[in-house]
Amino acid sequence: MSSSKALSDDSFAIAHFKLSDMWCHLMMEEENKDRYSQWEKIEEDIKRCKKCNLWRSRKNPVVGEGSIESKILFVGEAPGYWEDINGRPFVGRAGKFLDELLEIAGLKREDIYITNVLKCRPPNNRDPLDEEIKACSPYLDKQIEIINPDIIVTLGNFATRYVLNKYGLKSEPISRIHGRVFKSERTIITMYHPATAVYNPKMKQVLTNDFLILRTYTKGAKKD
Ligand code: URA
Ligand code: SF4
Repeated sequence: MSSSKALSDDSFAIAHFKLSDMWCHLMMEEENKDRYSQWEKIEEDIKRCKKCNLWRSRKNPVVGEGSIESKILFVGEAPGYWEDINGRPFVGRAGKFLDELLEIAGLKREDIYITNVLKCRPPNNRDPLDEEIKACSPYLDKQIEIINPDIIVTLGNFATRYVLNKYGLKSEPISRIHGRVFKSERTIITMYHPATAVYNPKMKQVLTNDFLILRTYTKGAKKD
């Protein structure tokens, strides 16, 4: 083969590569536009929602926070006192500890998306009722569909049960399965709720060890 032929083959290959790269980029931009417009719709739906009785006592619904382009989704239980006031997830004492745990896992809030099973606060932080979970979980399902995370980290019994069951996996009390990694179409990592450790140094250590496991999974899994 002549060198000029080899050269033109090379330039053709490079041009082709650049074009397909540009095409890929454009497709991703389109996908992202679609993702953000679907997200706006779900935010509006949640803000207007009256599907269970919790809308009556809530100050603000909590949609969630972080990057919807992240590959890692955290799911908590429900907003508490401070979350209800601020309309943001995990901003109270449990949230402060969660920030420490995220640092242990090599993550920042902006690297992940974080939401809850329930979007409105149950009065006096009581446990979510089955009927409330049933009414509210389609929002979480839709959030999972839009974000399409590789990893879902569940925080506490309620999120763990909901997410494992959703993927056809058997749930057990979090005291038995904390720090475990489940594989289905997504990787599910089950954690104690950070609130369990707020006044309990032993539990702090358990959660710290579990988040160290998470660190090995989150490298390279931050974004699309
Ligand atoms: N506990 C949760 O489960 N979620 C929050 O957003 C805050 C506290
Ligand atoms: Fe709607 Fe969920 Fe709030 Fe109930 S908890 S009112 S279902 S957003």
